[in-house]
Amino acid sequence: MKTELLFPTPEALARAGELLRSGEVVGFPTETVYGLGANAMDEAAVEKIFAAKGRPGDNPLIVHIADADGLAPLIASEPGPHARALMDAFWPGPLTLIFPKSDLVPYGTTGGLDTVAVRMPSDPVANRLIALAGVPVAAPSANTSGRPSPTTAQHVLQDMDGKIEMIIDGGAVGIGVESTIVDVSVDVPTVLRPGAITMEMLKAVLGEVQIDPAILGPMSADVRPKAPGMKYKHYAPKADLTLVEPADGDMESADSLERMTRKVRQLAEEKLAEGFRVGIICTDESRGQYSNGLVRSIGSRKKRETVAHNLYGLLREFDDLKADYIFSESFPQDHLGQAIMNRLSKAAGYHIVKV
Ligand code: TXA
Ligand code: MG
Repeated sequence: MKTELLFPTPEALARAGELLRSGEVVGFPTETVYGLGANAMDEAAVEKIFAAKGRPGDNPLIVHIADADGLAPLIASEPGPHARALMDAFWPGPLTLIFPKSDLVPYGTTGGLDTVAVRMPSDPVANRLIALAGVPVAAPSANTSGRPSPTTAQHVLQDMDGKIEMIIDGGAVGIGVESTIVDVSVDVPTVLRPGAITMEMLKAVLGEVQIDPAILGPMSADVRPKAPGMKYKHYAPKADLTLVEPADGDMESADSLERMTRKVRQLAEEKLAEGFRVGIICTDESRGQYSNGLVRSIGSRKKRETVAHNLYGLLREFDDLKADYIFSESFPQDHLGQAIMNRLSKAAGYHIVKV
């Protein structure tokens, strides 16, 4: 199959919509990461997504809709007050909600679950494409399963060339980490994946919010995460990634930042001395502290949005540079920092050195 890479002209979007309607797979931008779309109501179409990604069949897909009218056919009953409040506050946007599913949604889309994940993206290209398709669009992140999510059309092409019909190139995404997932099918809304709609923002709307323990640390074998995707090794670069974190959790004081950079430098020097290719993820503030290795700043500590935006692209860059080891500084866990550290910790397989 020849994969076409097209800018989002009206003609290209019309053709992409037609491809989706006829059961084919199309890569497209959203405000979070690039998605790999197919008709969510067509089990054979959805099967093509799993094949292109090499994704385990029990890992359910998020169904994307263009407007509020798209929700009713997907869900078993009217949204409750929590869901309604969240939709009013954050749709369209980077928030996915889990509802009991209607009979129309195939189990192939929900990985055999009786619930369905639904999101209304705010990205105008995504929104236009879904509207043109005229069907709900199931779309996981457009990476090969286990690789960092794509934040540019070139990343999608790296993973999907020859495997899908078309990629719409809408440029670099805005946010850079996947949507926040909140389960509203339970009594107390529960965050299954942190994202740009932060815990603080959710609490401001809902009051009480729970967080799935799978988000906070490595899982013991007996704990099943509520979002099946969270159990797989994820967001992983090819190199062995280690995070360095101040033991006291303090990321503000000059002293703890200094301890962190010193440790990153020491660990990197050890591997460099052994002859390995070593990547370092630092910040604009600490860039001057490192002189050896493949040193990359992820952005300023003062701008979490920039750090989130650059994260996956940097992990892919280290793949291209054939790094054997990567050592990374860590970030505060509040606001968008929770999503950043969730992705970094998972990419590191929870290999975290405390200093
Ligand atoms: O930002 C995003 O959400 C992107 C863009 C393309 O919209 N999509 C995305 O999809 O990140 P994906 O497939 O990479 O991640 C979906 C996550 C998985 O962890 C999956 O297990 C979980 O959502 N999920 C989907 N349906 C679910 C359900 N019914 N119950 C619990 N978790 C679910
Ligand atoms: Mg994904």
